[in-house]
Amino acid sequence: EAREGEKLSHESQELLLSLPKEKGWRTPYLYKYQGFWCQPMEIQATVSFQKHFLACDTDVVLATIPKSGTTWLKALAFAIVNRKRFPISNNHPLLSYNPHDLVPFFEYKLYANEQLPDLSNLPQPRLFGTHVPFASLANPIKKSSSRVVYLCRNPFDTFVSSWHYINKIIPKTQAPMLIEEAFEMYCKGIVGFGPFWDHMLGYWKESIERPHKVLFLKYEDMKEDVSFHLKKLADFLGFPFSLEEERAGCVEKIAKLCSFENLKELEVNKAGKSIKNFENKNLFRKAEVGDWVNYLSPRMAEQLTNVMEEKLGGSGLSF
Ligand code: A3P
Repeated sequence: EAREGEKLSHESQELLLSLPKEKGWRTPYLYKYQGFWCQPMEIQATVSFQKHFLACDTDVVLATIPKSGTTWLKALAFAIVNRKRFPISNNHPLLSYNPHDLVPFFEYKLYANEQLPDLSNLPQPRLFGTHVPFASLANPIKKSSSRVVYLCRNPFDTFVSSWHYINKIIPKTQAPMLIEEAFEMYCKGIVGFGPFWDHMLGYWKESIERPHKVLFLKYEDMKEDVSFHLKKLADFLGFPFSLEEERAGCVEKIAKLCSFENLKELEVNKAGKSIKNFENKNLFRKAEVGDWVNYLSPRMAEQLTNVMEEKLGGSGLSF
């Protein structure tokens, strides 16, 4: 944190002083900014993104809560919209770059530094990733015809995935985070970009009110039928598959290229580093639906079920 804190501007430090704070999972504190819990550097970058980002009508924003399948969604969207420029072949960019290098995060990459990015020369449609809740997206995104895809995952598996990930990336000198401790915080909503229910509901409501603007997807549904959702995603993004492409197996080829099994084994994903210099290999663990049963006690399962009932009940969103 001290290291991260050094990069904070005076303005950001002032802002932090005015925000509620709680003990963090990885950094000493998480701060509540615009209703969600974040690390200081994420807040600084989000403020910069909100202030400076200019949208194009063709932009695509891929939004998730951490550990909900962000890497997968980025790979799929990249392969879909660029399939004329990069046909599926042995030198497809996804074979030598991690999806996070091809679809940059607003908050970890583009607006993470003092120097603002020049995004004017990016090929269209421009693809971006974010963990920021809908309400906190830069206004031009909401006002333009740009499209937003939200992928969420059942909170049980998201929690277990996050807990594993945090313990992989914390310094070896730091004691691992106990699952019980992480779980209590998660149920209170105190986790990066949480509370998870507010995050999901923000995009969920928008997807109902403006279905042409926000496509709401679930990780479990995608796992069950990737081809169906790949086509749905392509239609939504304005890049539908032609009959010819479907006959040529283009949908299945993209699904295979972006599959967990394929990406996990690539050199770049075994040895490379992408987000904030963390190792790519930690982005690929098990990719299973329901793995949480191996980690949560019946009491924990009941507790999280109750939280979900209380927070999501009546919204129409269920897992
Ligand atoms: P597990 O920890 O349950 O295995 P994110 O990309 O948002 O960080 O999410 C990481 C989770 O997505 C991890 O879940 C990871 O294994 C899984 N994942 C990564 N790549 C995937 C892919 N291509 N297809 C499906 N799941 C993937």
